[in-house]
Amino acid sequence: MEITVIGTGYVGLVTAVGFAELGHRVLGVDRDAAKVRRLQAGDPVIYEPGLAEKLVAQQGAGRLHFTTEIAAGVRHAPILFICVGTPSLPDGSADLSQMEAVVRQIAAALDGYRLVVEKSTVPVRTSSWVHRTLRLYTRPGIEFEVASNPEFLREGRAVHDFFHPDRIVLGVPSQRAGDLLGEVYAPFHCPKVITDPNTAEIIKHACNSFLALKISYINLIAELCERTQADVHTVAQAMGLDQRIGPEFLEAGLGYGGACLPKDVQAFIHIGEEHGLDFSLLKEADAINRRRVDGILQKLKRALWILEDKEIAVLGLAFKANTDDVRGSQGLAVARALLDSGARVRLWDPHAAARAQELLSPSERVAYTDSIWGALEGAHAAVIATPWEELRALDLARVAATMLTPIVVDGRNLLDTEAVRAAGLEYHPVGRPSVAFT
Ligand SMILES: NC(=O)c1ccc[n+]([C@@H]2O[C@H](COP(=O)([O-])OP(=O)(O)OC[C@H]3O[C@@H](n4cnc5c(N)ncnc54)[C@H](O)[C@@H]3O)[C@@H](O)[C@H]2O)c1
Repeated sequence: MEITVIGTGYVGLVTAVGFAELGHRVLGVDRDAAKVRRLQAGDPVIYEPGLAEKLVAQQGAGRLHFTTEIAAGVRHAPILFICVGTPSLPDGSADLSQMEAVVRQIAAALDGYRLVVEKSTVPVRTSSWVHRTLRLYTRPGIEFEVASNPEFLREGRAVHDFFHPDRIVLGVPSQRAGDLLGEVYAPFHCPKVITDPNTAEIIKHACNSFLALKISYINLIAELCERTQADVHTVAQAMGLDQRIGPEFLEAGLGYGGACLPKDVQAFIHIGEEHGLDFSLLKEADAINRRRVDGILQKLKRALWILEDKEIAVLGLAFKANTDDVRGSQGLAVARALLDSGARVRLWDPHAAARAQELLSPSERVAYTDSIWGALEGAHAAVIATPWEELRALDLARVAATMLTPIVVDGRNLLDTEAVRAAGLEYHPVGRPSVAFT
């Protein structure tokens, strides 16, 4: 069937390419003309494993096109997926201005029934606002409906996640809307949760906030382990073997970042408060996450005494492995905190350095390196900030030989303690015993 996807960023582009591969005829719409030009030329703009090849293949098959014109998107399909950004406002609530702008543009172009689907993460009851806005700005007598179909893909595995979802959530106002979305997702055989739009909107925020709670919980346990010479890795392993808990999102370290979890937790706290509920459970998760960066700084201070003018390698700037996304990056936060302490930073990331450069103010105390070895050369310490495979597989003897003082602070608990000891590194993981300099 014909599908329009509005907003072709991390979610929208993967969704557009995925729908096309399923056989739908997809038009992707974005207001960013430069992005659309690159997409039209087969350049995915973002780094996401497997995406570039699929983009080119679907364009070649004639099933995927891009435009800047929302009106063309409205003409193209009976179903319009909105995938625009919903960042945080200063008070933590979701900034829905991109949503509202798109909805007004859709309303102006409506010429007959369309199903408008929110795929962006939005606060509960947004679908009512979308409905009202369509009613206000469209011509009388035109039919439309609004549904919620939240997205659960993970950056770095987004293509895989598109084709292998744990479940699909369809918040629909009617049988007609349910049937249309059912046709879109017919090729998937995973559980489908069919519900009302309000419930679907809450499901997304409830999931992300729960994941944040899980991460902050294990990081709190890591803090206890550090004070009691226990090992959080083994605690997490044993917890994860309990089927009621499960092993995922129990990795102690620098905490969660990215464009979703931090802002979704903030938004959910705000939504709870708007409805007279005390969501301090989530405020605590957020507070624990915020002190992760300081925890890394403290480890560096304990190792180096004075940070001023020290050369520190920060290995990893993407907020997680296999993406170039640096929004909410803990690695960038570490770099900023180091610069505030007077240190010099040498930054390495295999895919995210260019995007990091856009966000970090230029300074003669910041250097970007193409290789891990360039970052480590002459460094007083290194911080592992992103769990890239390259870092897991490091030649540790070479690390020791390359650095000025072989001190590694492992913000992602990537390295093996015995291997680190054998290589002669001083090593400070998170929630696990350190290895002293010998
Ligand atoms: N990134 C993720 O891993 C992820 C996962 C699940 C859900 N989400 C949610 O999906 C939504 C999109 O996230 P993202 O990471 O893809 O954002 P993004 O910033 O990468 O992409 C948003 C796109 O929307 C475009 N856009 C904005 N206003 C527009 C307009 N008026 N007309 C046309 N295009 C417009 C932007 O140019 C941009 O390309 C957010 O609500 C986010 O919370 C994101």
